[in-house]
Amino acid sequence: MNTIKWIVDKNKVKTESYPHVQQAAALLQQDEVVAFPTETVYGLGANALKDSAVAKIFKAKGRPSDNPLIVHISNQQQLINLVDNITPVAKKLTETFWPGPLTIILKKKAGISELLTAGLDTVAIRMPDHEIALALIEESGLPLAAPSANLSGKPSPTLAKHVEEDLNGKIAGIVDGGATGVGLESTVVDCTGDIPVIFRPGGVTKEQLEKVVGRVDVDPALEKEEASLKPKSPGMKYTHYAPVAPLYIVEGSPQYLQHVVDKARKDGKIVGVLSTDEQIDRIKADVVLTVGTRKDLHTIAAHLYEVLRAFNETSVDIIFSESFPQVGVGAAIMNRLQKAAGHKIVKENE
Ligand code: TXA
Ligand code: MG
Repeated sequence: MNTIKWIVDKNKVKTESYPHVQQAAALLQQDEVVAFPTETVYGLGANALKDSAVAKIFKAKGRPSDNPLIVHISNQQQLINLVDNITPVAKKLTETFWPGPLTIILKKKAGISELLTAGLDTVAIRMPDHEIALALIEESGLPLAAPSANLSGKPSPTLAKHVEEDLNGKIAGIVDGGATGVGLESTVVDCTGDIPVIFRPGGVTKEQLEKVVGRVDVDPALEKEEASLKPKSPGMKYTHYAPVAPLYIVEGSPQYLQHVVDKARKDGKIVGVLSTDEQIDRIKADVVLTVGTRKDLHTIAAHLYEVLRAFNETSVDIIFSESFPQVGVGAAIMNRLQKAAGHKIVKENE
């Protein structure tokens, strides 16, 4: 398949760039799969109401069929068409955080696809805060099912070239709108009950949610690493975001990180370090890449996947990563790092 690429200026979506949006929307109406930018990561979109279109997403990504998709909408009516009951918690959260990096889970309406929701009786929905994504949804007139536009298991794409690396030739088109903003996926929150439950940490933090609704719970499977606990969000059980070389998170001082690196190099390994602006000049290894500054964890979120992918362009045998405080967006950063590392952690005091 020839994958069409459109470059769309997100500041000129409704003017100069609109013919490209129309072409991409026309392909979506023909049940084709088109990748597009959102404020979190690139999504791989298709008509959420048509199984033959949704099936193409699963096929292109190599996604397991037990992992449901998020439906992207641009207006309230589309939400009403997908669910019977918008709970008070869902109402408050969507009024505050939409459009934005928040995905809500609600009981789905009868007739909503089993393929889309992987047989669950709930559906995940979000309104992205990105002009291009919103214009595509509006122009096509369709709610768009869209997982992250990477091959299953790979880091999510924050640039159109990442989508190309993974999916060129496998999908109808890619709308290149430049770098995404947040860099990590949306926060997935179960809103079916009275107390919202975080199924996946993401762009909207627990602290932000609590300010709006008070108590917020976290799926216990995310906090403990007990194999017996099954995550409520099916996607969270898969190894994800992984670079090719094995990744270890190092918890401890910069000196300890250097010690761990030196040891691996002595063993003949070519060593990469996922570092920060603060440490990059102090660490001696074969490849040292910075993800951003510790002074602003958002810079780290924005570059994490790009840096994980960048290690694949090098010849490192092993990667050691600094670790980050689990506050604010740090919770989502550490969640993704731990998954990328397959929970391999080296601790100074053990
Ligand atoms: O920021 C994002 O959310 C991006 C952009 C493209 O919008 N999308 C994204 O989709 O990250 P994906 O498919 O990579 O992740 C969706 C997550 C998975 O962990 C999936 O299991 C969960 O949402 N999910 C979807 N529907 C669900 C449901 N009904 N119940 C529980 N979890 C659900
Ligand atoms: Mg994903």
